[in-house]
Amino acid sequence: MTPAKPSQPPSSTAAICSLQGSLLTLAILTLVSFTYLSLKSLHFPLQYTPYTTPHTLSASVSQVVSAHDLGNFSDIYHSPETFRIIYAEMEKNFKVYIYPDGDPNTYYQTPRKLTGKYASEGYFFQNIRESRFRTEDPDQAHLFFIPISCHKMRGKGTSYENMTIIVQNYVESLITKYPYWNRTLGADHFFVTCHDVGVRATEGVPLLVKNSIRVVCSPSYDVGFIPHKDVALPQVLQPFALPAGGNDVENRTTLGFWAGHRNSKIRVILARVWENDTELDISNNRINRATGPLLYQKKFYRTKFCICPGGSQVNSARITDSIHYGCTPVILSNYYDLPFNDILNWRKFSVILKENDVYQLKQILKDIPNAEFVGLHNNLVKVQKHFQWNSPPIKYDAFHMVMYDLWLRHHVIKY
Ligand SMILES: *[C@@H]1O[C@H](CO)[C@@H](O)[C@H](O)[C@H]1NC(C)=O
Ligand SMILES: *[C@@H]1O[C@H](CO)[C@@H](O)[C@H](O)[C@H]1NC(C)=O
Ligand SMILES: *[C@@H]1O[C@H](CO)[C@@H](O)[C@H](O)[C@H]1NC(C)=O
Ligand SMILES: *[C@@H]1O[C@H](CO)[C@@H](O)[C@H](O)[C@H]1NC(C)=O
Ligand SMILES: *[C@@H]1O[C@H](CO)[C@@H](O)[C@H](O)[C@H]1NC(C)=O
Repeated sequence: MTPAKPSQPPSSTAAICSLQGSLLTLAILTLVSFTYLSLKSLHFPLQYTPYTTPHTLSASVSQVVSAHDLGNFSDIYHSPETFRIIYAEMEKNFKVYIYPDGDPNTYYQTPRKLTGKYASEGYFFQNIRESRFRTEDPDQAHLFFIPISCHKMRGKGTSYENMTIIVQNYVESLITKYPYWNRTLGADHFFVTCHDVGVRATEGVPLLVKNSIRVVCSPSYDVGFIPHKDVALPQVLQPFALPAGGNDVENRTTLGFWAGHRNSKIRVILARVWENDTELDISNNRINRATGPLLYQKKFYRTKFCICPGGSQVNSARITDSIHYGCTPVILSNYYDLPFNDILNWRKFSVILKENDVYQLKQILKDIPNAEFVGLHNNLVKVQKHFQWNSPPIKYDAFHMVMYDLWLRHHVIKY
């Protein structure tokens, strides 16, 4: 029997599909170009659009959250309400299992120190242990923490090659000993490293790069950073030498400031183009940060815009220095997945430029109306708490922001 209605011949189905495909492509292109045009009309050149994580929230969850923990900060978050609700869920439920293996006196478990350029790594290790997110019961855990401190290995003078071998042996021993890794091939596992050498040392275990959540200070794509999977850890040089700045715009009389090593192409250009400028205070000699009358830090109090070009890595502790001292950071990078980018709207408290904008830097900064600068400055004060580490950790600090980003990435099915 022949069917009453002949089915479409394959070729015409394909034609329809490709027509639909073209229409879809056209629709997407239109959407993209509208978005592009509307963003182009913004004051700053477009570098990238931060993505927001979509959340579906049940009404009952929304109701249990009593709000106003955060005050009226509608400006600095992509979605303050979403942040509030997910944060409450995270605080209530999130559990992390820390592998107890490894010798705490050698490479694992203990941070090297809580100070210096890589303090963020040390603080995370300490904070997770003293927080209530830790569980001793792996069956309760949403995520598994592989507590390898690459910074500590580095302190012992271990070579990069040896570090890679140590990480590999350690992770393989966990894979053999425990059933947890194999359930998701590492997708519910994470590690934390602030030093870029630490990131490279994990490359001996390909699944650690491909599947696990990497919490790292340098979110560089050339070492495999995957924005929707990995987490950008802010690099914070704590303790700060001087108290936080803010609400002091009348004292900010210098337009722009940068002093540092010329260890990247963009820094070389920045210094070459602006070194003798009378409005931009650009000096290619690093001012000693640690000693003397704290000249370097005091400049942050007197400046409107602190220029933050990438150095050997795209990240720099200069960004969180700027935030702390109330100097609006100017991110001068061609790409940088900024920390907490999926929560915070960086355009509300920083200026984001492409490296090529360095030649027009002064004009771009002078073109920012004073009211807009004051708005950026006021918002900067509001985000300060998110970029500070504490021991023990406190609500909404850098540790809790990292935990929030990890919580967003915990959804896997375990077999
Ligand atoms: C929050 O601030 C914005 C802008 O300043 C204002 O429009 C809004 O009404 C405020 N919301 C609340 C709940 O106070
Ligand atoms: C690397 O490991 C080898 C073999 O264990 C050891 O002999 C060598 O001293 C190590 N080198 C460094 C710099 O750690
Ligand atoms: C996990 O899988 C690896 C590779 O198949 C295997 O060598 C290892 O023994 C497994 N681990 C456990 C605990 O079964
Ligand atoms: C401005 O600077 C002066 C001199 O350093 C200082 O005494 C004053 O407290 C500063 N003002 C603000 C609002 O921070
Ligand atoms: C800045 O001044 C120094 C010393 O006068 C001079 O050698 C250099 O060429 C100047 N740089 C620029 C960009 O004008």
